[in-house]
Amino acid sequence: MKAVAREHLVVPDAVVQAVLSQGKVEEAPHNLYNYPARFAPTFPHEVIKAFSRKGELVLDPFCGGGTTLLEAMRLKRRAAGMDVSSLAAFIARAKTTPLSVHDRYAIDAWLNCMGDEEPAAPAVDTWGTAEEREHYERNCPEDAKVFFKWAVDKVTLLPKPRQQAFARLVLLSVGQWALDCKSTTRSLQELKGEYFKRLRASFEAYFDFLTAAADANELPRCRLASLRRVINRDAEASEDEGRIPKTWLPAQLVVTSPPYPGVHVVYHRWQVRGRKETPAPFWLANQRDGAGASFYMLGSRHEENLETYFTRLQGVYASLRALLAENALVFQLVAFSKPSWQLDAFLGAMELAGYSEVYVDSDADCVVDGRIWRYVPGRKWYARTQGKIPASKEVLLIHRPLPVAAGGPTISA
Ligand SMILES: C[S@@+](CC[C@H](N)C(=O)[O-])C[C@H]1O[C@@H](n2cnc3c(N)ncnc32)[C@H](O)[C@@H]1O
Repeated sequence: MKAVAREHLVVPDAVVQAVLSQGKVEEAPHNLYNYPARFAPTFPHEVIKAFSRKGELVLDPFCGGGTTLLEAMRLKRRAAGMDVSSLAAFIARAKTTPLSVHDRYAIDAWLNCMGDEEPAAPAVDTWGTAEEREHYERNCPEDAKVFFKWAVDKVTLLPKPRQQAFARLVLLSVGQWALDCKSTTRSLQELKGEYFKRLRASFEAYFDFLTAAADANELPRCRLASLRRVINRDAEASEDEGRIPKTWLPAQLVVTSPPYPGVHVVYHRWQVRGRKETPAPFWLANQRDGAGASFYMLGSRHEENLETYFTRLQGVYASLRALLAENALVFQLVAFSKPSWQLDAFLGAMELAGYSEVYVDSDADCVVDGRIWRYVPGRKWYARTQGKIPASKEVLLIHRPLPVAAGGPTISA
């Protein structure tokens, strides 16, 4: 095996500051749904700006709510995201789907029609089978259940699928605001008032984002979707993924965060009144769930040594090599429940997948052993109540793929 020298990378201060950012995510369209463990948008923004060029492909194999994709589009790059969760794919797609002034008229007219209506469950439930409804409505407080049934029924009256998707995305944000990690419940009137308020305000803010992105790309707004692909799939065995146009490949940059090893993050449910979980987000997004938490976390966090997690992580990155340029860079933000051994296991999986680590060339305080560490603000209540736990620290890991012909690397200090 050939020894490779440790590579050091000059990382602009803007990137370091973006990694350390503690700001709340308030700008549209990122704030249209607060995807669990999402990036501060400034992180992918600065990384994409510094380490890729206009027109190049940026890949996020664990794209969640689509933060990387949105920032890539804003910066005139092409973007491809994969996620095993149909809910995440729905959110990422809805957040990157252009809307027109005609869509605004349609949504306004729709809101005006419903303005005086008292929310009530429709006489006949048309969504799913009785068994499915029982599953998706589980642990939903009564008023929220009635409101969701009413709203989901009304959404189907919007003429275009993209309008329906936007209305569902905003409905998801209202559901999250009302239920997720909340101990109090909201009345029907409060829920309806919030939905109407958010729909109007979100449309305006989203439209401004689309207009700015279209100007930056010198494209009509309606063509923006042609800059991105959102693919609902397991990122493992993705080497032959045909939905990324061949002319976009290879990708120059990966900006991502995988599920964190051993860390409890609930991506696919809301936690109602304590820790009771509801799968309602899938219902509101018109997606199917049916999988347990480990499906979204590369394996069970309770497994000793997290063997499944690290084997699957290796599988994902091994297959991604086929989609990456030889000199591509992979930026990942990762947290660990037990950094003392999981960091090494993570790096080991990357090495076995055929990547060599790249170290940050800086003597800033946040850089330890060539890696930038940060505290994560505002993790969900189960982390907040315990104060600064290992999982509230994240590290930025940077890698490059080794040439496909090369064997596994041996790192010399
Ligand atoms: C930390 S979140 C990503 C959040 C994202 N960076 C954002 O800003 O919204 C990790 C995501 O990985 C997804 N995921 C887990 N296993 C996967 C797999 N095998 N292939 C693709 N996505 C997967 C989860 O569903 C989750 O959405």
